[in-house]
Amino acid sequence: MPVQIKSACRLVNTTFIMCGIFAYCSYLTERDRGYVCELLCNALARMEYRGYDSAGIGIDGDSPTDPYILFKEVGKVSALRKHVAGGIPTPAPGNEANALTTPVDMKKLFVSQTSMAHTRWATHGVPCSLNCHPHVSDPLTEFSVVHNGIITNFKELKLVLQKRGYVFRTDTDTECVAILCKYVYESQPNKRLNFQTLIKTVLKELEGSFAFVFKSVHFPDEIIAARRGSPLLIGVKSERKLKVDFVDVELQDDKQIPVPEAVDGQGLLAVPANGTAAPGSNLRRQQSRAFLSEDGMPQPIEFFVASDPAAIVEHTKKVLYLEDDDIAHIADGQLHIHRLRRDDGLSSVRAIETLEIELAEIMKGQYAHFMQKEIYEQPESVVNTMRGRVNFDNNTVTLGGLKAYLPVIRRGRRLLFVACGTSYHSCIAARPVFEELTEIPVAVELASDFLDRRTPVFRDDVAIFVSQSGETADTILAMRYCLERGALCLGVVNVVGSTLSRETHSGIHINAGPEIGVASTKAYTSQYIALIMMAVQLASDSMSKAARRAEIIAGLHDIPGQIKTILTMDKEIQQLATTFAKQNSLLIMGRGYQFATCLEGALKIKELCYMHSEGILAGELKHGPLALVDEHLPIIFIMTKDSLYPKVQSALQQVIARNGKPIVFITEGEEAPADVKTVVVPKTTDCLQGLLNVIPLQLLSYHIAVQRGVDVDFPRNLAKSVTTE
Ligand code: G6P
Repeated sequence: MPVQIKSACRLVNTTFIMCGIFAYCSYLTERDRGYVCELLCNALARMEYRGYDSAGIGIDGDSPTDPYILFKEVGKVSALRKHVAGGIPTPAPGNEANALTTPVDMKKLFVSQTSMAHTRWATHGVPCSLNCHPHVSDPLTEFSVVHNGIITNFKELKLVLQKRGYVFRTDTDTECVAILCKYVYESQPNKRLNFQTLIKTVLKELEGSFAFVFKSVHFPDEIIAARRGSPLLIGVKSERKLKVDFVDVELQDDKQIPVPEAVDGQGLLAVPANGTAAPGSNLRRQQSRAFLSEDGMPQPIEFFVASDPAAIVEHTKKVLYLEDDDIAHIADGQLHIHRLRRDDGLSSVRAIETLEIELAEIMKGQYAHFMQKEIYEQPESVVNTMRGRVNFDNNTVTLGGLKAYLPVIRRGRRLLFVACGTSYHSCIAARPVFEELTEIPVAVELASDFLDRRTPVFRDDVAIFVSQSGETADTILAMRYCLERGALCLGVVNVVGSTLSRETHSGIHINAGPEIGVASTKAYTSQYIALIMMAVQLASDSMSKAARRAEIIAGLHDIPGQIKTILTMDKEIQQLATTFAKQNSLLIMGRGYQFATCLEGALKIKELCYMHSEGILAGELKHGPLALVDEHLPIIFIMTKDSLYPKVQSALQQVIARNGKPIVFITEGEEAPADVKTVVVPKTTDCLQGLLNVIPLQLLSYHIAVQRGVDVDFPRNLAKSVTTE
């Protein structure tokens, strides 16, 4: 067994934001280099919403055994495109002296080729061309790799490899993986390891989380993709129909893998000097049934590997998701899936699924920003969340995934909601309804804090994890923590096939469609509705709650139309935004059902407008925030009518008495308080009112951000998916 290097001082990483990975393999499909570059850049553009600071691509040289050609650029994909259009590649680190000075031939034709691309969010080393992916093992690019995640033992690996004479030229953790590939390759005298066995040997040495794509000049036209903790999927495009809709997992006999030995007492793997017999030579004979042609002849096929379906959907809808520790090997028009370890109880096939998102859904369309488009999509996205689930005729809700679990949930000792960011706010919004309808104690937890406290969890707890992406690291870790303790774990997730949706016992897809703007909008309203539906379904066995259920369902019926009405107020809100655009702070106050609205509104303002904003529970006003109030402090009061209306009215009076000049959200038909500016919101039932009240706040934050010149879809320092703690 390889002796793992244990970190003397394990790297504790700060918040890390997700990179984007893409790879393209065409087999017996003629493509010129210009086409390949365009395809790679387009794929990166589709993943821009994840947040990144630099981008790079790697394409074949004039022959597949020639060094890889790299183009890398700090900044946006548009800058990378310009660089590619100029045709002068970025020299591989260490090969600057031989840098090309004439453009590469973009018309060069390839019958088969493999290429890769990456958007990087700096974690180790500043954003610069040198630290940009793809990373290579040496100036002649023997091994290249793109990586999403963090290798926590890279410092130790680097040290050992440096002692063996390998030269490191970047600040990244990824480079050590490329160099480790070269080391493993060079350590076998006869160079007989096949590509997948070599990569398997490398992966066994790595600690941390990752998704990788590997390529090597020693294995022309082959690519390896592997994951542990970061998502990765493979799209398949072929003229011929695939024979079956799954790919077999090939379980290699471990005895065939060369047994690496510890050497020099340093623990770095070493392949036996006598060169073990080539393993896996039998593997290539074992073909995956999906890709067999009728006559056994090779057929043209293209593969697209990506960390995000958005990069694949315009090429093909046939995809398979890799599981943790899968190693996908693409060679000779075949896709083979191997496992890092044998016998780990996972299914022995990977299903080829059909993606249900349309590219048009991902594109901005007529809107200036994805966020604006997503705000405007809400009348439809909320319908999609309810479609086929809410029966407005007989006042019932049926969430298929939960049906079998209803008795267990009802017997639960506690409903434990765990989430981050906006998703956390949707839990706060739904909490009162769960308490009212189910009468089960409810706890709402921020995933990071829940983990920090090592919160006690019991077998009869029902834990509900809410996440748009289904990939938020803290939420995933909290889920695994609860799974280990035997709690029933349910997911409320937007992205189908995401880690949370796969690893929970069951759950609800909110069906809001892809959300690209970093600031979440339509996912919030859909999460909110999904949770309300869940509470209503849980209470379906209670006669005493029938009237309330009917009231809520009637309210849900009208929500899409009411959202449409609010969207017609856009000009008015844009006008209002000008009064805030030059301010440094904004307090948003409310209570009861509207506390979540205040928190979510303030989060939108913070993340988009780079302006201090706080959501304040009006009941806490006299315990501190009142000291801030004067005639200058910008305040929004949410005073739409519900059972707590008189209390909020009194809070408003306290603010006005201190010369505060709040802008007040009121419900249609209510009398406006004297001398204050109002925003009039349509009325719905109390527990749904937050769905409507949040929309003007979304629009407000959007317009303030535009007026302040902020990059609305990509606010600084933030990204859509935060995939490590
Ligand atoms: C990031 C995003 C937020 C999001 C939060 C939770 O911070 O910028 O918009 O609310 O993650 O993400 P999730 O995908 O778990 O809902």
